Amino acid sequence: MLFERKSVIIKDEAPLLETFVPEAISHRDGQKQAIAECLKPILMGMKPRNAFLYGPCGTGKTLIATWILKELESHSSMAKTAYVNCWRRTTTHACLTEILRQLDVFTNYKQSTAELLQMVEKESKKKQLVICLDEFDMLESKEILYNLSRLGIGLILIANDPYALVDVDPRIKSSLNAESIEFPAYKPDEIFDILKERRKYALVPGAIRDEELKMIARLCNGDARIAIETLRRAALIAEEKEEKRIVKEDIQKAFGSTKNLRKTEALKKLNEHEKALYMLLEKHKTLDTVRLFALYKEAVEKPSSQRSYRNYMKHLVQLGLVKSYGELTGRKYEIVV
Ligand SMILES: Nc1ncnc2c1ncn2[C@@H]1O[C@H](COP(=O)(O)OP(=O)(O)OP(=O)(O)O)[C@@H](O)[C@H]1O
Ligand SMILES: [Mg+2]
Repeated sequence: MLFERKSVIIKDEAPLLETFVPEAISHRDGQKQAIAECLKPILMGMKPRNAFLYGPCGTGKTLIATWILKELESHSSMAKTAYVNCWRRTTTHACLTEILRQLDVFTNYKQSTAELLQMVEKESKKKQLVICLDEFDMLESKEILYNLSRLGIGLILIANDPYALVDVDPRIKSSLNAESIEFPAYKPDEIFDILKERRKYALVPGAIRDEELKMIARLCNGDARIAIETLRRAALIAEEKEEKRIVKEDIQKAFGSTKNLRKTEALKKLNEHEKALYMLLEKHKTLDTVRLFALYKEAVEKPSSQRSYRNYMKHLVQLGLVKSYGELTGRKYEIVV
Protein backbone atom coordinates (compact mmCIF):
# COMPACT_ATOMS: atom_id res chain seq x y z
CA MET A 1 0.00 0.00 0.00
CA LEU A 2 1.10 3.48 -0.83
CA PHE A 3 0.97 4.96 2.68
CA GLU A 4 1.69 1.83 4.65
CA ARG A 5 4.42 2.15 7.20
CA LYS A 6 5.70 -0.92 8.94
CA SER A 7 5.06 -0.64 12.68
CA VAL A 8 8.23 -0.91 14.72
CA ILE A 9 6.64 -0.68 18.17
CA ILE A 10 3.13 -2.14 18.29
CA LYS A 11 2.46 -5.64 17.02
CA ASP A 12 -1.10 -5.93 18.34
CA GLU A 13 -2.78 -3.30 20.51
CA ALA A 14 -5.49 -5.66 21.87
CA PRO A 15 -3.47 -7.04 24.85
CA LEU A 16 -3.05 -3.47 26.09
CA LEU A 17 -6.77 -2.71 26.13
CA GLU A 18 -9.05 -2.96 29.18
CA THR A 19 -11.27 -5.52 27.42
CA PHE A 20 -8.40 -7.99 27.02
CA VAL A 21 -8.58 -11.10 29.18
CA PRO A 22 -5.05 -12.34 29.90
CA GLU A 23 -4.37 -16.06 29.79
CA ALA A 24 -1.93 -15.93 32.67
CA ILE A 25 -2.91 -14.29 35.95
CA SER A 26 0.16 -13.97 38.13
CA HIS A 27 0.59 -13.09 41.82
CA ARG A 28 -2.96 -13.80 42.88
CA ASP A 29 -2.76 -17.49 43.81
CA GLY A 30 -3.74 -16.86 47.43
CA GLN A 31 -6.84 -14.91 46.46
CA LYS A 32 -7.84 -17.45 43.79
CA GLN A 33 -7.47 -20.24 46.33
CA ALA A 34 -9.51 -18.38 48.95
CA ILE A 35 -12.40 -17.78 46.52
CA ALA A 36 -12.22 -21.38 45.31
CA GLU A 37 -12.53 -22.57 48.93
CA CYS A 38 -15.76 -20.58 49.24
CA LEU A 39 -17.17 -22.17 46.09
CA LYS A 40 -15.94 -25.74 46.64
CA PRO A 41 -19.04 -26.94 48.55
CA ILE A 42 -20.92 -26.64 45.23
CA LEU A 43 -18.99 -29.62 43.87
CA MET A 44 -20.47 -31.69 46.71
CA GLY A 45 -23.97 -30.35 46.11
CA MET A 46 -23.83 -27.94 49.03
CA LYS A 47 -24.37 -24.20 49.37
CA PRO A 48 -21.24 -22.09 48.77
CA ARG A 49 -19.90 -19.47 51.15
CA ASN A 50 -20.18 -15.81 50.23
CA ALA A 51 -16.98 -13.88 49.54
CA PHE A 52 -16.16 -10.20 49.89
CA LEU A 53 -13.23 -9.02 47.75
CA TYR A 54 -11.78 -5.61 48.53
CA GLY A 55 -8.75 -3.53 47.67
CA PRO A 56 -7.61 -0.49 45.72
CA CYS A 57 -8.15 0.11 41.99
CA GLY A 58 -6.39 -2.05 39.42
CA THR A 59 -5.55 -4.94 41.74
CA GLY A 60 -7.24 -7.70 39.72
CA LYS A 61 -10.53 -8.07 41.64
CA THR A 62 -12.80 -7.99 38.57
CA LEU A 63 -10.36 -10.02 36.51
CA ILE A 64 -10.13 -12.81 39.06
CA ALA A 65 -13.82 -12.87 39.96
CA THR A 66 -14.89 -13.21 36.31
CA TRP A 67 -12.16 -15.78 35.66
CA ILE A 68 -13.28 -17.92 38.60
CA LEU A 69 -16.95 -17.81 37.53
CA LYS A 70 -15.95 -19.19 34.14
CA GLU A 71 -13.81 -21.88 35.76
CA LEU A 72 -16.67 -22.90 38.01
CA GLU A 73 -19.12 -23.24 35.12
CA SER A 74 -16.64 -25.34 33.18
CA HIS A 75 -16.01 -27.63 36.18
CA SER A 76 -19.57 -28.11 37.33
CA SER A 77 -22.69 -28.58 35.25
CA MET A 78 -24.63 -27.94 38.49
CA ALA A 79 -23.53 -24.32 38.62
CA LYS A 80 -24.65 -21.24 36.74
CA THR A 81 -23.12 -17.82 37.20
CA ALA A 82 -23.79 -14.15 36.55
CA TYR A 83 -21.63 -11.04 36.82
CA VAL A 84 -23.14 -7.58 37.34
CA ASN A 85 -21.37 -4.26 37.56
CA CYS A 86 -23.59 -2.45 40.05
CA TRP A 87 -22.14 0.91 39.26
CA ARG A 88 -23.99 0.65 35.94
CA ARG A 89 -27.08 -0.92 37.54
CA THR A 90 -27.65 0.77 40.85
CA THR A 91 -31.33 -0.12 41.36
CA THR A 92 -32.54 -3.52 42.54
CA HIS A 93 -34.74 -3.75 39.47
CA ALA A 94 -31.90 -3.11 37.01
CA CYS A 95 -29.60 -5.46 38.87
CA LEU A 96 -32.13 -8.32 38.88
CA THR A 97 -32.97 -7.74 35.21
CA GLU A 98 -29.30 -8.11 34.32
CA ILE A 99 -28.92 -11.26 36.44
CA LEU A 100 -31.93 -12.84 34.72
CA ARG A 101 -30.65 -11.85 31.29
CA GLN A 102 -27.41 -13.69 32.00
CA LEU A 103 -29.38 -16.68 33.23
CA ASP A 104 -31.16 -16.66 29.85
CA VAL A 105 -34.51 -15.70 31.36
CA PHE A 106 -36.63 -13.29 29.40
CA THR A 107 -38.01 -10.27 31.32
CA ASN A 108 -39.92 -7.13 30.48
CA TYR A 109 -39.74 -3.73 32.08
CA LYS A 110 -43.31 -3.98 33.39
CA GLN A 111 -42.41 -6.72 35.84
CA SER A 112 -42.08 -5.60 39.44
CA THR A 113 -38.97 -6.14 41.54
CA ALA A 114 -40.84 -8.78 43.56
CA GLU A 115 -41.72 -10.64 40.36
CA LEU A 116 -38.14 -10.52 39.15
CA LEU A 117 -36.97 -11.88 42.47
CA GLN A 118 -39.43 -14.75 42.18
CA MET A 119 -38.01 -15.55 38.77
CA VAL A 120 -34.50 -15.65 40.20
CA GLU A 121 -35.78 -17.92 42.97
CA LYS A 122 -37.17 -20.30 40.36
CA GLU A 123 -33.79 -20.42 38.62
CA SER A 124 -32.01 -21.00 41.92
CA LYS A 125 -33.99 -24.23 42.33
CA LYS A 126 -32.77 -25.57 39.00
CA LYS A 127 -29.07 -24.88 39.43
CA GLN A 128 -26.65 -23.67 42.06
CA LEU A 129 -26.31 -19.98 41.28
CA VAL A 130 -23.23 -17.89 41.96
CA ILE A 131 -23.58 -14.17 41.38
CA CYS A 132 -20.82 -11.60 41.41
CA LEU A 133 -21.93 -8.10 42.34
CA ASP A 134 -18.99 -5.88 41.40
CA GLU A 135 -18.90 -2.42 43.04
CA PHE A 136 -21.87 -3.54 45.15
CA ASP A 137 -21.43 -0.47 47.38
CA MET A 138 -23.00 1.54 44.54
CA LEU A 139 -26.34 -0.27 44.97
CA GLU A 140 -29.08 2.06 46.18
CA SER A 141 -30.46 -0.63 48.47
CA LYS A 142 -28.49 -3.50 49.98
CA GLU A 143 -31.64 -5.53 50.65
CA ILE A 144 -30.95 -7.49 47.45
CA LEU A 145 -27.91 -9.05 49.14
CA TYR A 146 -30.18 -10.47 51.83
CA ASN A 147 -32.79 -11.61 49.30
CA LEU A 148 -30.29 -13.44 47.11
CA SER A 149 -28.29 -14.97 49.90
CA ARG A 150 -31.51 -16.23 51.56
CA LEU A 151 -32.19 -18.23 48.38
CA GLY A 152 -28.91 -20.11 48.85
CA ILE A 153 -27.24 -18.22 46.00
CA GLY A 154 -23.47 -17.81 46.42
CA LEU A 155 -22.42 -14.16 46.30
CA ILE A 156 -19.07 -12.68 45.36
CA LEU A 157 -19.18 -9.05 46.45
CA ILE A 158 -16.53 -6.58 45.30
CA ALA A 159 -15.67 -3.08 46.51
CA ASN A 160 -12.66 -0.83 46.89
CA ASP A 161 -13.51 0.06 50.44
CA PRO A 162 -12.56 -2.57 53.04
CA TYR A 163 -15.40 -1.18 55.19
CA ALA A 164 -18.03 -1.47 52.46
CA LEU A 165 -19.92 -4.05 54.52
CA VAL A 166 -19.58 -2.21 57.81
CA ASP A 167 -22.50 0.12 57.22
CA VAL A 168 -24.77 -2.54 55.79
CA ASP A 169 -27.73 -3.37 58.06
CA PRO A 170 -26.53 -5.95 60.66
CA ARG A 171 -29.40 -8.28 59.70
CA ILE A 172 -28.18 -8.33 56.08
CA LYS A 173 -24.55 -8.59 57.11
CA SER A 174 -25.09 -11.56 59.39
CA SER A 175 -27.13 -13.37 56.72
CA LEU A 176 -24.15 -12.95 54.37
CA ASN A 177 -21.41 -14.10 56.74
CA ALA A 178 -18.98 -13.34 53.93
CA GLU A 179 -15.34 -14.40 53.83
CA SER A 180 -13.18 -11.26 53.40
CA ILE A 181 -10.42 -11.55 50.82
CA GLU A 182 -7.93 -8.73 50.44
CA PHE A 183 -6.44 -7.60 47.13
CA PRO A 184 -3.53 -5.37 48.12
CA ALA A 185 -1.86 -2.99 45.68
CA TYR A 186 0.72 -4.84 43.55
CA LYS A 187 4.40 -4.43 44.31
CA PRO A 188 6.56 -2.93 41.53
CA ASP A 189 8.13 -6.31 40.66
CA GLU A 190 4.66 -7.86 40.39
CA ILE A 191 3.54 -5.12 38.03
CA PHE A 192 6.77 -5.68 36.09
CA ASP A 193 5.78 -9.34 35.57
CA ILE A 194 2.29 -8.36 34.41
CA LEU A 195 3.76 -5.82 31.99
CA LYS A 196 6.30 -8.33 30.62
CA GLU A 197 3.45 -10.66 29.72
CA ARG A 198 1.59 -7.87 27.86
CA ARG A 199 4.77 -6.77 26.13
CA LYS A 200 5.24 -10.26 24.72
CA TYR A 201 1.87 -10.20 22.94
CA ALA A 202 1.48 -6.52 22.15
CA LEU A 203 4.88 -5.18 21.15
CA VAL A 204 7.52 -5.91 18.57
CA PRO A 205 10.59 -7.55 20.20
CA GLY A 206 12.97 -4.87 21.44
CA ALA A 207 10.28 -2.14 21.45
CA ILE A 208 10.83 -1.50 25.15
CA ARG A 209 13.67 -2.56 27.42
CA ASP A 210 13.25 -4.02 30.91
CA GLU A 211 14.59 -0.80 32.39
CA GLU A 212 11.78 1.30 30.92
CA LEU A 213 9.19 -1.33 31.82
CA LYS A 214 10.44 -1.18 35.42
CA MET A 215 10.06 2.57 35.34
CA ILE A 216 6.34 2.17 34.54
CA ALA A 217 6.03 -0.43 37.29
CA ARG A 218 7.45 2.05 39.82
CA LEU A 219 5.26 4.93 38.69
CA CYS A 220 1.87 3.24 38.72
CA ASN A 221 1.40 2.92 42.49
CA GLY A 222 0.49 -0.77 42.41
CA ASP A 223 -2.37 -0.25 39.94
CA ALA A 224 -2.13 -2.72 37.02
CA ARG A 225 -4.71 -0.81 34.96
CA ILE A 226 -2.66 2.40 35.11
CA ALA A 227 0.52 0.44 34.31
CA ILE A 228 -0.92 -1.25 31.22
CA GLU A 229 -2.55 1.96 30.00
CA THR A 230 0.71 3.86 30.48
CA LEU A 231 2.53 1.24 28.40
CA ARG A 232 -0.12 1.52 25.67
CA ARG A 233 0.06 5.31 25.53
CA ALA A 234 3.86 5.31 25.60
CA ALA A 235 3.87 2.84 22.71
CA LEU A 236 1.55 5.07 20.69
CA ILE A 237 3.74 8.11 21.38
CA ALA A 238 6.89 6.24 20.31
CA GLU A 239 5.12 4.94 17.23
CA GLU A 240 3.94 8.43 16.33
CA LYS A 241 7.46 9.85 16.71
CA GLU A 242 8.76 6.97 14.59
CA GLU A 243 11.21 5.98 17.31
CA LYS A 244 12.91 2.60 17.30
CA ARG A 245 11.95 1.94 20.89
CA ILE A 246 10.02 3.46 23.78
CA VAL A 247 12.16 5.85 25.80
CA LYS A 248 11.80 7.35 29.29
CA GLU A 249 10.42 10.60 27.95
CA ASP A 250 7.55 8.76 26.23
CA ILE A 251 6.70 7.07 29.51
CA GLN A 252 6.69 10.31 31.44
CA LYS A 253 4.38 11.89 28.90
CA ALA A 254 2.12 8.83 28.79
CA PHE A 255 1.95 8.63 32.58
CA GLY A 256 0.94 12.28 32.80
CA SER A 257 -2.14 11.64 30.70
CA THR A 258 -2.91 8.31 32.40
CA LYS A 259 -3.16 10.07 35.74
CA ASN A 260 -6.18 11.90 34.36
CA LEU A 261 -7.67 8.55 33.48
CA ARG A 262 -7.44 7.52 37.14
CA LYS A 263 -9.25 10.68 38.13
CA THR A 264 -11.99 10.20 35.52
CA GLU A 265 -12.47 6.58 36.54
CA ALA A 266 -12.63 7.46 40.22
CA LEU A 267 -15.01 10.40 39.71
CA LYS A 268 -17.48 8.08 38.01
CA LYS A 269 -17.76 6.14 41.24
CA LEU A 270 -18.88 9.09 43.38
CA ASN A 271 -22.41 9.82 44.54
CA GLU A 272 -23.71 13.39 44.43
CA HIS A 273 -22.62 14.12 48.02
CA GLU A 274 -19.12 12.85 47.36
CA LYS A 275 -18.96 14.90 44.16
CA ALA A 276 -19.94 18.02 46.10
CA LEU A 277 -17.24 17.32 48.70
CA TYR A 278 -14.69 16.67 46.00
CA MET A 279 -15.54 19.94 44.27
CA LEU A 280 -15.18 21.87 47.53
CA LEU A 281 -11.72 20.40 48.02
CA GLU A 282 -10.84 21.06 44.40
CA LYS A 283 -11.62 24.72 45.03
CA HIS A 284 -9.99 25.10 48.45
CA LYS A 285 -7.18 22.51 47.96
CA THR A 286 -7.04 21.76 51.69
CA LEU A 287 -9.67 22.06 54.43
CA ASP A 288 -10.09 20.85 57.98
CA THR A 289 -12.98 18.48 58.53
CA VAL A 290 -15.14 20.90 60.55
CA ARG A 291 -14.93 23.58 57.89
CA LEU A 292 -15.43 21.09 55.05
CA PHE A 293 -18.56 19.67 56.68
CA ALA A 294 -19.93 23.20 57.19
CA LEU A 295 -19.30 24.13 53.55
CA TYR A 296 -20.84 20.86 52.40
CA LYS A 297 -24.03 21.55 54.38
CA GLU A 298 -24.35 24.86 52.54
CA ALA A 299 -23.51 23.38 49.15
CA VAL A 300 -26.07 20.62 48.83
CA GLU A 301 -29.83 20.70 49.10
CA LYS A 302 -30.27 17.76 51.46
CA PRO A 303 -27.02 17.24 53.37
CA SER A 304 -26.46 13.84 54.99
CA SER A 305 -25.59 13.17 58.61
CA GLN A 306 -22.08 13.56 59.97
CA ARG A 307 -21.76 9.79 60.03
CA SER A 308 -22.52 9.53 56.30
CA TYR A 309 -20.18 12.44 55.71
CA ARG A 310 -17.37 10.46 57.32
CA ASN A 311 -18.14 7.54 55.00
CA TYR A 312 -18.12 9.78 51.95
CA MET A 313 -14.71 11.09 52.94
CA LYS A 314 -13.46 7.56 53.54
CA HIS A 315 -14.56 6.66 50.02
CA LEU A 316 -12.78 9.69 48.52
CA VAL A 317 -9.57 8.70 50.33
CA GLN A 318 -9.97 5.07 49.25
CA LEU A 319 -10.27 6.09 45.62
CA GLY A 320 -7.05 8.07 45.93
CA LEU A 321 -8.73 11.40 45.12
CA VAL A 322 -8.17 12.92 48.54
CA LYS A 323 -5.57 12.55 51.31
CA SER A 324 -6.32 12.83 55.01
CA TYR A 325 -4.06 13.92 57.85
CA GLY A 326 -4.60 13.84 61.61
CA GLU A 327 -7.39 12.38 63.69
CA LEU A 328 -10.98 13.21 64.62
CA THR A 329 -11.82 16.93 64.70
CA GLY A 330 -8.20 17.83 63.96
CA ARG A 331 -8.41 15.96 60.66
CA LYS A 332 -7.46 17.78 57.47
CA TYR A 333 -8.30 16.81 53.91
CA GLU A 334 -6.27 17.66 50.86
CA ILE A 335 -7.03 17.22 47.18
CA VAL A 336 -4.71 14.76 45.38
CA VAL A 337 -5.80 14.78 41.74
N1 LIG B 1 -2.48 -10.54 38.08
C1 LIG B 1 -2.75 -10.00 36.90
N2 LIG B 1 -2.25 -10.52 35.78
C2 LIG B 1 -2.52 -9.97 34.58
N3 LIG B 1 -3.27 -8.88 34.38
C3 LIG B 1 -3.81 -8.29 35.48
C4 LIG B 1 -3.58 -8.82 36.79
N4 LIG B 1 -4.23 -8.05 37.68
C5 LIG B 1 -4.84 -7.09 36.99
N5 LIG B 1 -4.61 -7.21 35.66
C6 LIG B 1 -5.10 -6.33 34.60
O1 LIG B 1 -5.17 -5.01 35.13
C7 LIG B 1 -6.38 -4.35 34.78
C8 LIG B 1 -7.15 -3.99 36.02
O2 LIG B 1 -7.59 -5.16 36.70
P1 LIG B 1 -9.07 -5.27 37.33
O3 LIG B 1 -10.04 -4.63 36.40
O4 LIG B 1 -9.33 -6.68 37.69
O5 LIG B 1 -8.87 -4.38 38.63
P2 LIG B 1 -9.90 -4.12 39.83
O6 LIG B 1 -9.22 -4.58 41.07
O7 LIG B 1 -11.22 -4.71 39.50
O8 LIG B 1 -9.95 -2.53 39.84
P3 LIG B 1 -11.20 -1.54 40.22
O9 LIG B 1 -11.28 -1.55 41.71
O10 LIG B 1 -10.75 -0.20 39.72
O11 LIG B 1 -12.41 -2.04 39.53
C9 LIG B 1 -7.11 -5.31 33.85
O12 LIG B 1 -6.80 -4.97 32.52
C10 LIG B 1 -6.54 -6.67 34.20
O13 LIG B 1 -6.58 -7.54 33.09
MG1 LIG C 1 -13.07 -3.83 39.00
